[in-house]
Amino acid sequence: MWESDGDLLARVDKNKMPRHVAIIMDGNGRWANGLGLLRNAGHLAGVKTLKNILKTAVNLKLEVLTVYAFSTENWKRPHSEVDFLMNLFSEYLEREKLEMHENNVRIKFLGRTEDFSPALQNLIHDSIELMKNNTGVIFNVAADYGGQDEIVRAAQKLAQRVANGELSPENISTQLFENELDTAGQPPVDLLIRTSGDLRVSNFLLWQVAYAEFWFTDTPWPSFTPEEFVSALVDFGKRTRRFGALNT
Ligand code: FPP
Repeated sequence: MWESDGDLLARVDKNKMPRHVAIIMDGNGRWANGLGLLRNAGHLAGVKTLKNILKTAVNLKLEVLTVYAFSTENWKRPHSEVDFLMNLFSEYLEREKLEMHENNVRIKFLGRTEDFSPALQNLIHDSIELMKNNTGVIFNVAADYGGQDEIVRAAQKLAQRVANGELSPENISTQLFENELDTAGQPPVDLLIRTSGDLRVSNFLLWQVAYAEFWFTDTPWPSFTPEEFVSALVDFGKRTRRFGALNT
C-alpha cells in the first residue's frame, strides 16, 4: 500500500474537496530543454510526478482524477517523440498496474486508443479488466483524446439510435448526451489544473468543464509536487461556486 503523508493531507478540508480533478500535465519539454536535456527526458520525469500525484489522490480519497496524457493533436509531433511516449505508456502500465490495483485504483481510458499498437491496446484492456471491480479513485487516462472528438463520437452514437428508430431527436437531453461520453456515469470536473503557465483548455474535457474551477501554475509538470496539488485543493475549497445561480 502507498504510505500516506498525514501532515500534508491534514491541510485539506474533507467537506470542501472536489469530487473530480482534471490535470493538463504541461511543460515536460520546456522543463527538459531548460536543463539542457532532450524533451523526452521531460516526459520521463513527468511519469514520476504522475505517480506521486496519483498516490496523493488515493490518500485523499478523491473520487475521480483525470490526466491528459496524449491529445488527438499530439500525433503531429515528431515520430521519435510519439514513439517515446507510446513506449512510456506501455512501460508505465506494465510496471504500475499491480500497485495501482493493490491501492484500489480503477483505471479507465478516455479517447480513441484504437490507433495505438496492438500490444499497447492489450495492456490498456488488461489494466481496465484487472481494476474494473475496484472501488477507490477512478483514474482516467485521456489518451488519443480530444474534447471535440469525444462530443462528435457521442453525437454519432445518438444519431445512429435515431436512424435505427430507437430514439426521437426531441428526446435527446443533456443527460442522454452525457451517457454517451467517455466519462459516462462520472461526476463533472470540479477543478481543472494546468501546469507550466499557459492559460488555455487545449481541447480537454470541453463538455465536462462547464462549471469547473480553473487553477493555473507556472510550475512545469516534472516539478509539480503533492504539496502544490494540495494547495490547489485548498484554494478550490475557498471558491464560491454558483453554477449560474445567485448566492443565497
Ligand atoms: C505535455 O508537455 C505533456 C504531454 C503531451 C505528455 C504527457 C505525458 C506524461 C506526463 C508522461 C506520463 C503519462 C503517462 C500516462 C504514463 P509538453 O511536451 O507539451 O511540454 P512543452 O509544452 O513544454 O513542450
